[in-house]
Amino acid sequence: MSEPAIKYRLIKKDKRTGARLGEIITPHGTFPTPMFMPVGTLATVKSIAPEELEEMGASIILSNTYHLWLRPGEDIVEEAGGLHKFMNWDKGILTDSGGFQVFSLSDMRRIEEEGVHFRNHLNGSKMFLSPEKAINIQNKLGPDIMMSFDECPPFDESYDYVKKSVARTSRWAERGLKAHANPDRQGLFGIIQGAGFKDLREQSARDLVAMDFPGYSIGGLSVGEPKAEMNRVLEFTTPLIPENKPRYLMGVGTPDSFFDGVINGVDMFDCVLPTRIARNGTCMTHKGRLVVKNAKYERDFGPIDDQCNCYTCRNYSRAYIRHLFKSDETFGLRLTSYHNLYFLLEVMRNIRQAILDDNLLEYREAFMEEYGYNKP
Ligand code: GUN
Ligand code: ZN
Repeated sequence: MSEPAIKYRLIKKDKRTGARLGEIITPHGTFPTPMFMPVGTLATVKSIAPEELEEMGASIILSNTYHLWLRPGEDIVEEAGGLHKFMNWDKGILTDSGGFQVFSLSDMRRIEEEGVHFRNHLNGSKMFLSPEKAINIQNKLGPDIMMSFDECPPFDESYDYVKKSVARTSRWAERGLKAHANPDRQGLFGIIQGAGFKDLREQSARDLVAMDFPGYSIGGLSVGEPKAEMNRVLEFTTPLIPENKPRYLMGVGTPDSFFDGVINGVDMFDCVLPTRIARNGTCMTHKGRLVVKNAKYERDFGPIDDQCNCYTCRNYSRAYIRHLFKSDETFGLRLTSYHNLYFLLEVMRNIRQAILDDNLLEYREAFMEEYGYNKP
């Protein structure tokens, strides 16, 4: 037996919550957890250079099997020497399996036991993705962490449907595990599904834990369900994952949900939100969201966030960034993207420090108050 590619080391458990401090050891370095992963769907975190990601403290990013499969194609990435070389990023990379993207982006999808038939969102051509294919593609792309091919049913789907879907996702996970070519170089995570049904989440976790993945994702959340529902599911799902394995809450990345996740024992998060909203001029700040294009910032020569120490906030004003957006200058969205990513990575750094200092709940209270979440 060779060593698994991905290992988790637990450093400290919070006494008052389910939060934990740890680290994840990958073939491209070790990163502290809890951690936020910026999203680089097409092998680029839009408008941000790898050196800048490193400078802001990112140590793992997320990319997408589905998009890279369609363009440029996994063979080209493999020929380039893998995703790390292709995009000049030497730290961690995680890829999602394509399952979720097939469901959210393509039309005309048909799910069968064998896999999913769908139409490509770029040119409408017919395509087919199976658990084996999703793993083969990820083996060629070469991320440190790969995801099993899963089905993510809508949160309000019926119990009977979700029960069948969970069973199929378990069979797909098993098939993916068999197809995985190099577990010593890439870690494959299982994805727990089950919508809002406790017994189905338990079944899903039981099935996947028996397969002994090096890490587990919690899928099917942040798909439009109320925040209280996400928390209810997290509360009973996270404890189903063995303590010595990393836990990844997929597609979640607002500051308030970082706290919810971490307090329930989540180690990894990702979300397109910070970069997506940045491109239309929305910034996350300690005092809540700020739309820098607004007229009221025309003569505001202060930084986006006066408590932020990022490159953008140290050097540029709201007025200047507003001017760039008004003039359709691309430097504007680079500056806001940089700031938003820095902001979330900084919140996560503060969360880790708070766990270390035994004051996570106090930090959350202060943060939420200032951000404006506690307002009626
Ligand atoms: N991204 C956000 N949610 C999900 C999910 O349930 N499954 C997968 N594969 N990716 C996701
Ligand atoms: Zn900033």
